[in-house]
Amino acid sequence: MSRLLVTGGAGFIGSNFVHYLVANTDARITVLDKLTYAATREAIDGLDRVELVVGDVADGDVVEPLVAQHDAVVHYAAESHNDNSLNDPSPFIKTNILGTFTILEAVRKAGTRLHHVSTDEVYGDLDLDDPKRFTEDTPYNPSSPYSASKAGSDHLVRAWVRSFGVRATISNCSNNYGPWQHIEKFIPRQITNVIMGGRPKLYGDGLNVRDWIHADDHSSAVWTILEKGTIGETYLVGADGEQTNLDVVRMILKHFGRPEDDFDHVTDRAGHDRRYAIESGKLRQQLGWQPKFQDFEAGLAATIEWYQANEAWWRPHKEATEAAYAAKGQA
Ligand code: NAD
Ligand code: DAU
Repeated sequence: MSRLLVTGGAGFIGSNFVHYLVANTDARITVLDKLTYAATREAIDGLDRVELVVGDVADGDVVEPLVAQHDAVVHYAAESHNDNSLNDPSPFIKTNILGTFTILEAVRKAGTRLHHVSTDEVYGDLDLDDPKRFTEDTPYNPSSPYSASKAGSDHLVRAWVRSFGVRATISNCSNNYGPWQHIEKFIPRQITNVIMGGRPKLYGDGLNVRDWIHADDHSSAVWTILEKGTIGETYLVGADGEQTNLDVVRMILKHFGRPEDDFDHVTDRAGHDRRYAIESGKLRQQLGWQPKFQDFEAGLAATIEWYQANEAWWRPHKEATEAAYAAKGQA
């Protein structure tokens, strides 16, 4: 795989994956990205062996010739924020479902290998006291327009593998953290609130659980699946990082030397999933993958320091992001 097309490679996880490829492989990389509000061009600017094509994954005229010039497509491009999908689901349907359909038709025509990047949210949620975790056999049960659109995209990929022999794999990963994550998301929102002297904002009782993984570990998992995965298979990606939102907020406050109760409870998210938890034994045992970031609090501290050092990037977007939350009673 010497030529890789990375869709959504100017977003949070996609740009981390591009950095991973540059550091760990000899591949030449084309990023196809629409540069929506969630993209950061500078995250991949100036990188060796990386070319950016600005375009829409739902536009077959752009996608088809590009796909034909590459050995493999790694499909990250998506509308990714649950709260936004509750305000307006339409871009989620267009990008996540029609965009994936467009990619699938292009790889079908060209015979190109595809890896489809998806989410654990397709499985719905677990109770707090449920001893089970998600596995590759958990039934799909998405809750939000975002997760339903990702579930739809996964089903399309599975159907194109079975009916048309497309050479694709799928990964469903848990919540990522790390550099370049948009400040609308939970961890960067709370870090940047505290840097600006404000208070973290917890939805509902704050006891919802997310299973955190560093974006670098997600990248190594995707690369492992591309290199060693079996066509047609799905792999769950997780690093045993379950934390309540409340505990994450307390870790952030502790890092800044602020009192542990120095936060606000705000209006809960509609349909808010209670708990996600990933059992990633298949990926570890069959393909030999291991996460490097095993200490969440240390990874979080490094991420806090990154946001402190990169205020010039996020600061211009903070006011508008918070104004959108304020309009919903979540600020
Ligand atoms: P993001 O919102 O940070 O980035 C998405 C990128 O896709 C942006 O650069 C955006 O410009 C681009 N994009 C959006 N619509 C496009 C279109 N129509 N055509 C071309 N490019 C378009 O998202 P993220 O958090 O980096 O997530 C990337 C992928 O990983 C998504 O598929 C998401 O479902 C999946 N995922 C995310 C997480 C997480 O914790 N963030 C966890 C598991 C899976
Ligand atoms: O599980 C994987 C998913 O993780 C990805 O598929 C999504 O693209 C990604 O955005 C993420 O979804 P979540 O909805 O879990 O992430 P978010 O950062 O929006 O919220 C994390 C948790 O924090 C969730 O329980 C909601 C809560 N929250 C969020 C915000 C923005 C708060 O309590 N306060 C907040 O201000």
